[in-house]
Amino acid sequence: MVRLRSDCISEMWSLLIVVSSASVCRGLNVNDTFFNSIPPLYALDDWTQCQRPGDVYCTVDAVLKVAEPKSSLLSLLQEYSSQTLKHYNRTQIHRGVCVSRCRREQPADTSWNSVQNCVNQSVLKYGLQAELLSMDWCVSQDAKPVSGSARALAVFCTTLVAIACLATVLHVLAERCVKVDGNKYLMAFSLKRNLDVLIRNRCGPKTQPRLKDVASIEGIRFFGMQCVIFSNVLIFYVYSYTDNPEFIEKLYDQFPWQMIVNSPLWVQAFFSISGFLTAYTVLLSSEKRSLTIFSCLQSVLNRWIRLTPMALFALWFTIAWFPMLGSGPQWAWLVEREAQDCSERWWYHILYIQNFLPSGKFCMGHTWYLAAAMQLHVLGMILLVILMKYRSATALVLMIFMAGPAAATGFVVYWHDLMPIATAYSPELIRTIFAGSEILSLVLLPFWMNLPGYIGGVAVAFLLYHNQTSGNKLARNMSFNVIFHAALFVGLGVTLGGRVFLRTAWPPWAAALYAALDRTLVAVCFNLFLLGCFSRCKSLVRDALEWRGFHALGRLSYCVFLVHFTVLRLTMAENTHVGHISVFSLLSLFITTSVLSYAVSVPLCLLVELPGLQLWNAIASDQTREIPAAETPTRRPDKPCDLVSQVRRRHEYC
Ligand SMILES: *[C@@H]1O[C@H](CO)[C@@H](O)[C@H](O)[C@H]1NC(C)=O
Ligand SMILES: *[C@@H]1O[C@H](CO)[C@@H](O)[C@H](O)[C@H]1NC(C)=O
Ligand SMILES: *[C@@H]1O[C@H](CO)[C@@H](O)[C@H](O)[C@H]1NC(C)=O
Repeated sequence: MVRLRSDCISEMWSLLIVVSSASVCRGLNVNDTFFNSIPPLYALDDWTQCQRPGDVYCTVDAVLKVAEPKSSLLSLLQEYSSQTLKHYNRTQIHRGVCVSRCRREQPADTSWNSVQNCVNQSVLKYGLQAELLSMDWCVSQDAKPVSGSARALAVFCTTLVAIACLATVLHVLAERCVKVDGNKYLMAFSLKRNLDVLIRNRCGPKTQPRLKDVASIEGIRFFGMQCVIFSNVLIFYVYSYTDNPEFIEKLYDQFPWQMIVNSPLWVQAFFSISGFLTAYTVLLSSEKRSLTIFSCLQSVLNRWIRLTPMALFALWFTIAWFPMLGSGPQWAWLVEREAQDCSERWWYHILYIQNFLPSGKFCMGHTWYLAAAMQLHVLGMILLVILMKYRSATALVLMIFMAGPAAATGFVVYWHDLMPIATAYSPELIRTIFAGSEILSLVLLPFWMNLPGYIGGVAVAFLLYHNQTSGNKLARNMSFNVIFHAALFVGLGVTLGGRVFLRTAWPPWAAALYAALDRTLVAVCFNLFLLGCFSRCKSLVRDALEWRGFHALGRLSYCVFLVHFTVLRLTMAENTHVGHISVFSLLSLFITTSVLSYAVSVPLCLLVELPGLQLWNAIASDQTREIPAAETPTRRPDKPCDLVSQVRRRHEYC
């Protein structure tokens, strides 16, 4: 017992030492003196000094050079940069340059040449020279004309708000006196009705009992969204201009952060939820009518219509309004660039195929998830039609779809000599928005590689449905309870396992093996956890996830997912100085982004997402009007429209 304790303590100590000593880079031993002796990776000219008419401010990249061929500093930089998995390419520098200032100080024939001289001069004191690689994303101080699309968006928003106000007033009137009968297309815009939908209790007395079991899904969504926001805050810091990029480089050596680097594995959780909900609703509705190809198409269309209005609105905003909302040295590089890339690619987003586009462009990159989920939904519906016909083959088919992608990942990683996903997020790769990344295009983004999560969710739906219909109480099963409680920890262990690939080179077969298993294992673990939650296993975590407050927050997830990146950039891109990263700044940016995203999402959800959905429901209910008897309106008996008495009564109460 004593030995065990001391073992445990020494384990803890070694863990602490690993964490605290991680700042020493392996291979090349550099200290803070090193970072003071090299030109900073990022620097910005004073923005406020570049505001006169005709001034131009550009973002430039330059490569460091030396006059004599053998320079110890440059070879040190090259060696440091050769650790591509965790270090930036320090032989390049990135500058925000006021071109007019350079033209004054270094007069030359062209702007390019004067900027070239200007940047070159700035690194002479380090014994280096610089050669310009690119000069992009220039902003001039002249007023930009307002684009037609921005005007159109203004008209659209005003109309939307007006319709919503009108609909709300009519709705309130209609409730007080039935004479004003709300047109159901107009009522789709009623804020009151949409607010009710947003904050509806998903476990209320009206809910089907079997849907109450899955209430914890909203809590999972909420926490999942927090993780997404946090990792994007980190990614944002990796590619924006900061004065201590070595903070990021050191993170890749630190124990807790290595898990975050490998966190893309947990996207499987979202795919699982998507697969589960699809399969579960199909199973529940199959009791009333069987699944046909037609209802399958309808489900895909429904999903498209549910997602697209909000996605389109976010795109439109990004293209038309976002660039006009501010200015700053990084504004062009962080915001205008996205507007331009989005105006080239927006229609891929409407078709949900943006995950197949070459990376390196920057148009709402995080929405690759929506594309993959849509493609999985199409595949999943086809699969469900088959499974509903041949129920007995379910286990086998799901097993094949689970193991197939795992084998394919292992094979692709081995064949292309890649590394597991843990290594896909190297600083330089994020800085260039994953330009030319093979791991992303071959392993992470294609929908078929993300099947494990989705199929796991489908399997959970079948198991849960089977248990519910056969009265099998999984929660009473002792061994399942143990598995349920261990599942998330095992999943975290698998995530952490990826850290070994950040440290040393591994033989290709080991990388292939881990790459084959990482997402599959995480998906299996998460789905076991999901099954436990839905089967009402006793757990504090499950109780917390079922908290009533998550119902509305979970409902907002989709809006938050779409807008959080915009909010994140809006809070940071106006900064006129290079940023500074610390744990505290990460946390404060995370909290700001999270709170603001939810705040912005409430009006968006009420004005765009839900009205779109309700409008579609109204249209769809028009087409299936053959059975109107089922929906007798539950309106109160007619009463005279007596506003005066209503008002009087209100006064009496006051
Ligand atoms: C940092 O490293 C350099 C050699 O790379 C060495 O000369 C210097 O003394 C070190 N500084 C500190 C504070 O350790
Ligand atoms: C760093 O950038 C330079 C210039 O673009 C390039 O030649 C070099 O190969 C890069 N280094 C690494 C390790 O990628
Ligand atoms: C940089 O400046 C030095 C000194 O003025 C000059 O000799 C060198 O040719 C310049 N390098 C480039 C790439 O312009």
